[in-house]
Amino acid sequence: MASPSPLKQLANLIVASVERIDAACNTQGVSFPSLDEPISPSSEEIRHQPDVSQAINVIVAAATQLIATARVPTISVVTLGLQWAAISSLGVANDTNIPEILREAGPQGLHVNEIAKKNGLDPARIGRVLRTLATIHVFKEVKPDVFANNALSSVLDTGKPIEALLEDPMGKHDGTSGIPAIVGHTTDEVYRAGTQLSTVLRDPKWGHSQEPTEAALNKAFNTPLPPFEWLELPENAYRLRRFGVGMDGTSKIFPAGAVLQVADVAGGIGSVSMIIAKAYPHLKIFVEDREQVVPEAKKFWDSSLPDALSSGRVSLVPIDMFAAQPAVGQNADLYILRQILHDWSDKYAAKILTQLRAAAGSKSKLLVIESILSYACEQPADELTISGAQAKVVAPAPLLPNFGGAGAPSYFGDLLMLAIQNGQERTLLHFSNLLKSTGWELKEVRRPPTGIGHSYLVSMPV
Ligand SMILES: C[S@@+](CC[C@H](N)C(=O)[O-])C[C@H]1O[C@@H](n2cnc3c(N)ncnc32)[C@H](O)[C@@H]1O
Repeated sequence: MASPSPLKQLANLIVASVERIDAACNTQGVSFPSLDEPISPSSEEIRHQPDVSQAINVIVAAATQLIATARVPTISVVTLGLQWAAISSLGVANDTNIPEILREAGPQGLHVNEIAKKNGLDPARIGRVLRTLATIHVFKEVKPDVFANNALSSVLDTGKPIEALLEDPMGKHDGTSGIPAIVGHTTDEVYRAGTQLSTVLRDPKWGHSQEPTEAALNKAFNTPLPPFEWLELPENAYRLRRFGVGMDGTSKIFPAGAVLQVADVAGGIGSVSMIIAKAYPHLKIFVEDREQVVPEAKKFWDSSLPDALSSGRVSLVPIDMFAAQPAVGQNADLYILRQILHDWSDKYAAKILTQLRAAAGSKSKLLVIESILSYACEQPADELTISGAQAKVVAPAPLLPNFGGAGAPSYFGDLLMLAIQNGQERTLLHFSNLLKSTGWELKEVRRPPTGIGHSYLVSMPV
């Protein structure tokens, strides 16, 4: 019998995965959340269960590959070239409080004329932006020119009353989930930087540079400053505040572990430390970051865990991670670098690791939390021989081994880092070599159970 066509194989994977999800829902007596309804913590529980989460990845990878296989290639590629319209529309909706306006309007939705009265935009243009988004399943058009939130648009809702947002636009993201803040960051400075990527990669000097001052962002904003300094300019005060909350939004559940003294190096406002401090109240934690970030961090801790700073169990320490660790950072039990190495080219990442190696004691551990990039083909054998490495979860055939469309955010993140400051996401072999070259030995790699997301790389001094 002839084997099924690729279209059929992909469709079968989708059906099998949907059946797994249905079975999980039936066993637990819950319905799978509707696309038409705003999400809630309880609606999302089912999606986060490992088995369901794995099935969702297969559905996304298979559906993306099925579309690429089935559709007329010229239409696929020309449509890709127009994706800027989706990013821009998302930015408009997010920046002008439309998700909050629609939350207050409720499920029957609101006419664009009424939305316009609340955010001051032209009503017909609001309609065009929201219709574009509704067509790709962000918001829904319940009647002509009447829009309501759905599952996807509801994640852009800060949860704050419109009055509060209008009264304090600078504080829009404070105390929120951080997702609207991330989308604000990616649809603004990241997106603008991305438009310069082709120009910069074709430049004979900048196209090969490791410097954080010769990247697409510098071209886009016509600035000679590295991005973290650029963010600290007075005119970027809103962006800096938004970035801090956005980083908090990317926090994931932290694995358990017994540690005593923790240095969260370049810890931002301290999102990872917040999770650790709540789970392990006996730990002494140092959140280290640039001096200019410390006031933002103070706001975050004062509002989320008020006694942490006053009791002294958490300290905010201004540092330059390219210089020697301060006294409190010497011989820590654990150094954490979460989403730091990917900001930097090898030249600078090695400097950070070298400083930590100089501060580390023989028993100190280094925890790097980053995405590990896979190839879009089979995993090479040399990756399996790295100390601490374990085989990664591989997608079922005929999917791409890296889960294709479901794994794409990590590759988008890689180019984001390139555009912002010549940084990069890395493969496991790249991490292992970088660590080795700076006096660290990779001991253990914990990959995300679903195959997609952050990995935990534990190293010790050689
Ligand atoms: C991508 S954020 C990650 C923040 C945090 N680790 C997290 O995961 O939420 C990068 C952080 O590096 C900090 N940073 C950049 N240059 C630094 C330097 N020279 N010394 C210390 N921190 C720095 C930035 O201020 C920012 O908070």
